[in-house]
Amino acid sequence: MTFHNILTLTGALLLCAAGANASLAKKSKSSTENQSRIIENAHAQMLLQIKAIESDTSKNVLNPVTTKRNRFSTAYCSWADWRSGFFPGSVWYMYELTGDKSLLPLAAKYTEAISRAQTLTSHHDIGFIINCSFGNGRKYVNKEEYEKVLVTAAKSLCTRYRPNAHIIQSWNTSPGSWQASRGWKCPVIIDNMMNLELLFNATEITGDSTFYDVAVNHANTTLNQHFRPDGSCYHVIDYDAETGVVLHRNTGQGYADQSAWSRGQAWAIYGFSMCFRKTGDRRYLDQALKTFEFMKNHRNMPDDLVPYWDMDAPDVPDEPRDASSAAIIASALYDISTFDIDNADSYKDYADKIMKSLSSRKYSARPGTNGRFILKHSTGSIPHNSEIDVPLNYADYYYLEALIRATSKPATNNPRTQ
Ligand code: GLY
Repeated sequence: MTFHNILTLTGALLLCAAGANASLAKKSKSSTENQSRIIENAHAQMLLQIKAIESDTSKNVLNPVTTKRNRFSTAYCSWADWRSGFFPGSVWYMYELTGDKSLLPLAAKYTEAISRAQTLTSHHDIGFIINCSFGNGRKYVNKEEYEKVLVTAAKSLCTRYRPNAHIIQSWNTSPGSWQASRGWKCPVIIDNMMNLELLFNATEITGDSTFYDVAVNHANTTLNQHFRPDGSCYHVIDYDAETGVVLHRNTGQGYADQSAWSRGQAWAIYGFSMCFRKTGDRRYLDQALKTFEFMKNHRNMPDDLVPYWDMDAPDVPDEPRDASSAAIIASALYDISTFDIDNADSYKDYADKIMKSLSSRKYSARPGTNGRFILKHSTGSIPHNSEIDVPLNYADYYYLEALIRATSKPATNNPRTQ
């Protein structure tokens, strides 16, 4: 090659690079603008939800959870409901996304309205309730008071630990309950993985490793018992609490015992990636990735990556979707993409695709519609004929969390930095 040719090629490459840089800059500007539009839409919807709460004249602080069967009016839940921490948590997240200071006292008010839940011992969901509300709020206000609540709640959760079986019992089986009618003795659901973050946080706050040990024991037993060879998980494993022997492998909210209930898969992906972030134990991440690969490669995964409520439901493609599963998976994948692992960016790319779908008009509601929730098309429990193709407050919560994680830097406590 002559000197002239080299110069021409170098010039061409430089021009190309300059063009690529300009188009990258344009792309990133348009994706920032897009992100701002998405956040503005969600913010407007949340302000309407808050307006409805604040104009209510009853003594109770309303806690929005879904829409009523008429699909127009908003349904609210009590402090003891497993979903009571998600709306307060979403308000903290919206503050983080927008910097709208008017949200801070409201987030604190909605959080403190459910503080009675810190001593709840009748089910395992205290982790969802307290960690999503007080756990997020402690960054902004009343740090010590909020941390006290987290620790009390962690102690409450530990009352459900069954030391011989090394698990936390998820549900009670009181006579007359639907759980008892299934013949279960000590049922543990995959969702319970999400409650472990409260325990890890309690150890970080107090230095008392008891909480950490309970969390790790529960995660290890779940790792051994809840998964099938293809990476998918059962919803319910029923144990003999005295011996740890598995009595049943069933579903509660899925289509069949052997099917892949989508939110259960999402809880597994998120729960085990969170356990990796908290412990550095690579087995947890491997399981999260295996379950994710199962979902990603499932023959019924729709092109827009928003799963059917159960991936094996019989009438796919005419089955309801579950936007909550998509949001939970997206949030977990953004977390995973910050770990020092092979192909970390590919998890972010997949999460970006999910978020593009969820942020489209197909799934994102126009302000003032959809019971003032952000996302449409989630499914609570088809076997219980409950909340089918509706908004759900936890879909919104994980969607907002994913929006934050999409743009934030790796957490200082992730395993890459340890
Ligand atoms: N934890 C209950 C559910 O995912 O529906």
